[in-house]
Amino acid sequence: MMEGATRLFPPPANLQKGPRQPGERAKGQPFYNPGMALNRDLSVLLVEAFARARGREIDVADALAGTGARSLRLTGEVEAPIIVHANDADPRGVAAMRAHPVGARLRIHEGDAHAFLATQRFDVIDLDPCGSPMPFVDAAMRAARVGALVCATATDTGALAGKFPRVCRRRYDAHHGLHPAPWRAEVGLRVLGGALVRSAARFERVATPVLSIASGHWMRVVARVEEGKKDTDDGLRGLRNAVLDADGLGRMAPAHEVPDGKWAGPLWGGPLHDAGLVAAMRAAREGKQLARPKEADALLALFTEEADAPAFWVEPDLFQKRLGPPPRRDVLIARLRAAGFAAARAHLDAQGVRTDAGLDGLRACWGG
Ligand SMILES: C[S@@+](CC[C@H](N)C(=O)[O-])C[C@H]1O[C@@H](n2cnc3c(N)ncnc32)[C@H](O)[C@@H]1O
Repeated sequence: MMEGATRLFPPPANLQKGPRQPGERAKGQPFYNPGMALNRDLSVLLVEAFARARGREIDVADALAGTGARSLRLTGEVEAPIIVHANDADPRGVAAMRAHPVGARLRIHEGDAHAFLATQRFDVIDLDPCGSPMPFVDAAMRAARVGALVCATATDTGALAGKFPRVCRRRYDAHHGLHPAPWRAEVGLRVLGGALVRSAARFERVATPVLSIASGHWMRVVARVEEGKKDTDDGLRGLRNAVLDADGLGRMAPAHEVPDGKWAGPLWGGPLHDAGLVAAMRAAREGKQLARPKEADALLALFTEEADAPAFWVEPDLFQKRLGPPPRRDVLIARLRAAGFAAARAHLDAQGVRTDAGLDGLRACWGG
């Protein structure tokens, strides 16, 4: 079967199955999950953009490679010079990778991801486990070369979005009391981003989230890792708490204050995406055959809008009682911008409007 421009041979047990449902576990053997094709599309564009900017051959680690779908796509579809090191502990996954015609750009390893990451340094490290990436994040932060990208996918979205706050506390060492908020998934992305920042700080490194994506049953944060004690302190200063205020709007509060009412944190308080990286990914898109082209293009356009936009968003329908029937989303965005406020769409919510207008500003732009 084809995914993007790559021919993949999923293990036979996969062939009768559709994508796994949210929360459904793989049963006892390495699998190929077509539900992650969009995630891998964006990975191809990310690595292409990053490798071009590096201007030299880069080493990419696919530390939990499964049956190798991501590694095979990267080696086949990224044109810039890369070596992909694909690792998995399960010999059946490794055998599935070896069954492919493997080019010189792919090195296959069989072993525990911690051991694999302990002995080499990489420019891009991808963590795509079943569930939380946190058991592998410290190892990835140590294995990252200066300026490297650590890419962490999570499928335990119930924990990250606050449905299971005790699990969120346990795995991510963060409080999430904002499950009722429409932007609970953004809180989840920021909890994951904050956890990457705190992990890097243990090694006197600074991790800065540069791409934060939630789609279907997965969330993914990519962080750039640099070195330096002062920068590490600055990175930790980028952590915040999120608060649901009395007007029903989300805002950031200092991380060391425990706010009254509903809150979440510590979490990443900076931009969700780096605008320059998103622009480079859009440039890398030129001529690429993706598995989910429409969704990938729509997401990249939204990331561009979101990169400099305020955190969290307003869902206009929720303000109907107080402000009257809401205008269409795009009309509201145009009015807010004309009035001098920041206003942008949100990739996590088709109705969401990111804005710094506050309730009075919204009221002023709500009517005609
Ligand atoms: C979700 S799958 C990876 C899917 C793959 N990245 C893709 O795009 O198709 C997670 C993989 O992590 C592997 N794994 C789990 N714990 C591991 C460990 N400690 N070391 C190495 N591999 C591990 C499992 O064998 C499984 O194949």
